[in-house]
Order: sequence, then C-alpha cells, then structure tokens
Amino acid sequence: MTYQEWKQSSGNKVIASSPFSEKIFDFIPESGRVLDLGSGDGRISQVIQKHGFETYGMDINPTAINLAKTQPDLVGIAFSVQDAKATTYEDAFFDAVIEQAVLACVEKSDRTTVLTEVHRILKSGGVFSIAEFGFEESLHERYEHDALLSGEYGTVVVKSDDGMKPFRSHHFRSEELDTLVQDAGFEIIQSTHPNFSTRSGHTHPGHQYIVRKV
Ligand SMILES: C[S@@+](CC[C@H](N)C(=O)[O-])C[C@H]1O[C@@H](n2cnc3c(N)ncnc32)[C@H](O)[C@@H]1O
Repeated sequence: MTYQEWKQSSGNKVIASSPFSEKIFDFIPESGRVLDLGSGDGRISQVIQKHGFETYGMDINPTAINLAKTQPDLVGIAFSVQDAKATTYEDAFFDAVIEQAVLACVEKSDRTTVLTEVHRILKSGGVFSIAEFGFEESLHERYEHDALLSGEYGTVVVKSDDGMKPFRSHHFRSEELDTLVQDAGFEIIQSTHPNFSTRSGHTHPGHQYIVRKV
C-alpha cells in the first residue's frame, strides 16, 4: 500500500494483529514519554497509557487518528497525523518508541528514513520496540507473484475482506531487521522470534525486537 492509500483507508478498518510484548516497559523510566508510531486507531497507545506513561500516538491515516481522538478510553493521549519519515517532534523527545507492523507497510527505499527519524526523536539511551511479521519460506510462490505488484520479493499484497484497498505487508528476515536497525544507530538488546497469529487464525513467524539508541 502506498502512503496515499494508507491516508485514504478507513480508520475503523486498520488491520492490526501483531502481538504486543510488554517487555519494553521494563526499559522505560517511570512516567516516561512514549510514542506509538503508526498507532492506527490506538490499540497499543491504550496499553502504553494504562502503564502510566505520557503517551503519544501518530499515524499517517487521518481517519484512524480522528477515531482515536474520539474514544473515551483514549482520553489524554496526544494523537496527531504525521508521516513517520519526517515527524514534527523535537530531537531527543521520547524515552521510548513502539512500532507494531508499521515498517512492513513502508516501502523498502523509505525504511532507513523511518528508522533514522526514530533515532532522532529518541533520547540517548532511549529504547525502541519493533514487532514485525517474518519471512516464510513456504510462501515462495506467493512472494514471487506479489512481487510483480509490490516490486519486492517477501512483500505480500493483502486483500482486505471489508472493501479496503489492497495493501502491502513486508515479511522480514531477521538478518534484514538486524542490518536495518544497526545501520540506523541502534544496539539490539533483545530479539525473539515467536510465532504470531494472523487475523485469519493462521500461525506465522514473527520478530520482536528491543533496541537502544547508542
Ligand atoms: C498494520 S497497521 C498497525 C497499526 C498499529 N500499529 C497496531 O498494531 O494496532 C499499520 C499502520 O501504519 C500506518 N502507517 C503506514 N505508513 C505510515 C507512515 N509513513 N507514517 C505513519 N504511519 C504509517 C498505517 O496508517 C497503519 O495505521
């Protein structure tokens, strides 16, 4: 899915199933300032706020952000419409940034830009939590087929069942994520590779990383 399509998609149809690991909370100071990057309609922002952190959420999709802003459960969270490639936050503003399946939607050529932006807005020593779906060898034929549309092997084009436009989702190899985060100036503190459940109930390899700005 292109940025334009994410902007146009309906907020109450944000597709989000990557499991959130609360391990990141052990690395954030009490009452720390935390950003939910690509928050959609606030699924993860709500968990962050419940843990007592000063919570921010941003997404390129205005419909999703407007929906988040009207939810009684999400009052007090600073939501805004922004592009993760270039946000308006000050340098070293956050103690932690959390992203769940957002890099997957970002085109290959822009992934380093997004990670460099996360690095900029994190405090020195600040932490970044990443959850992404993993590469699955058995999907070889689908990867080949969908690459004709997405331009990248390992990226699937997901057709929604609710009328939303098809969107792209990249499945990362762990080495690919390692290189991306390290090249952007992060040190990997933890990386685990649990199975995730998809919306359709299937099991799929996943990655959960906690990295630190060095
Ligand atoms: C799969 S959804 C995940 C939503 C949320 N992180 C969750 O797990 O509930 C991916 C989200 O990334 C957002 N997104 C995609 N590209 C973005 C960008 N360049 N800047 C900000 N958000 C973006 C989409 O609008 C969408 O809400």
